[in-house]
Amino acid sequence: MSEDAMHGMNVTIRIQRFTPMPERGHARRHSSSPFGGKARTGSPFGSSPSRRRIRGKHFSQDYDFEAQPGQTVLDCLLDIKRTIDPTLAFRYSCGHGICGSDAVSINGTPTLLCTAKVEDYAKPQSNQPATNNTAVDGFRPTGTTQQTARDTIGHNASEQTPEQTSDEDDQPRASLNAGDSRNPDALNSSTENENAAPNPALIEIAPLPGFPVLRDLIVDIDQMMNQIRKLEPYLKADGKLATTTDGQIDMFEYLQKPEELKRYELLSNCISCGICEGSCPVYAGGEAFIGPAALIADSRFINDSRDNATDQRLDAIATADGITACQSVRACSRECPRGIDVGEEMWQLTERVKSRQNR
Ligand code: SF4
Ligand code: FES
Repeated sequence: MSEDAMHGMNVTIRIQRFTPMPERGHARRHSSSPFGGKARTGSPFGSSPSRRRIRGKHFSQDYDFEAQPGQTVLDCLLDIKRTIDPTLAFRYSCGHGICGSDAVSINGTPTLLCTAKVEDYAKPQSNQPATNNTAVDGFRPTGTTQQTARDTIGHNASEQTPEQTSDEDDQPRASLNAGDSRNPDALNSSTENENAAPNPALIEIAPLPGFPVLRDLIVDIDQMMNQIRKLEPYLKADGKLATTTDGQIDMFEYLQKPEELKRYELLSNCISCGICEGSCPVYAGGEAFIGPAALIADSRFINDSRDNATDQRLDAIATADGITACQSVRACSRECPRGIDVGEEMWQLTERVKSRQNR
């Protein structure tokens, strides 16, 4: 067994955190939300309170961590939360890539925390001091989390501060670079000495792009779920009773050939994680767009031979902020955890809507 395999890998996990301010008497709505502002003028998809910007404090926080072989980034965050900083907020449920609740951006790539292996995402970082990029109700300065990869991984650089854990003999693997997890002014003290040993590898985690942040890595997915709901993602069959040679029986039976099932089977695996939305420059970029997740849900039934509402479904998305807003960038296809070629599905929908309009 290699030394690395026995001792694990020292990594710095840098998290873009957000602490919301207490709500005032009435919430500010829409004014700074590009989604709400553009979509509320007659759009059936875009209007939602979740599009408002939540006021609060953005800051970046580093945790030094000794990751064990095979650990996922979710495992690391759970250890950090249990052993060093219970205030860290993130969402997860199944832990196995099934529920889609833990989509975040890791090193700028939208992905699921529970399927992201540390060894796949840990990148070498330079010995430059980390920047304390804190802003009250403001934007993070761009580039502060994008450290260049120059130096090799520093396996001994992660020092634990004794007072940060209650039991050092228990070998807690997470440590905080600053004493107060909510005090950004105290952050990154361990990186002040440029002559120190090489920094450990770096993993940068941020909330999923394109969604309003509620706290730390937790984003508001209401808008996405409402958009999916508006397209009525359930079977609308003809409702005819199945018959036998003896006549009608009191049950519904929807027969399908294997090749018909094949047309939508993969689409039915969508877990509504929102990764395609976070990857989409149109949706995450702030344009009024129903988004690829809702369109995938629509396409799943459009391609189902048992469904009788195809025309109605195509009409529902033939709007300026429906499939028409898709720019065919196809970034949505790259990171889908269920292997759906989202961009290709968007293209197929575009073609079907066009051919229906030209009829
Ligand atoms: S299509 Fe893929 S990336 Fe998009 S919501 Fe569904 S599972 Fe997630
Ligand atoms: S926790 Fe369910 S998909 Fe990651």
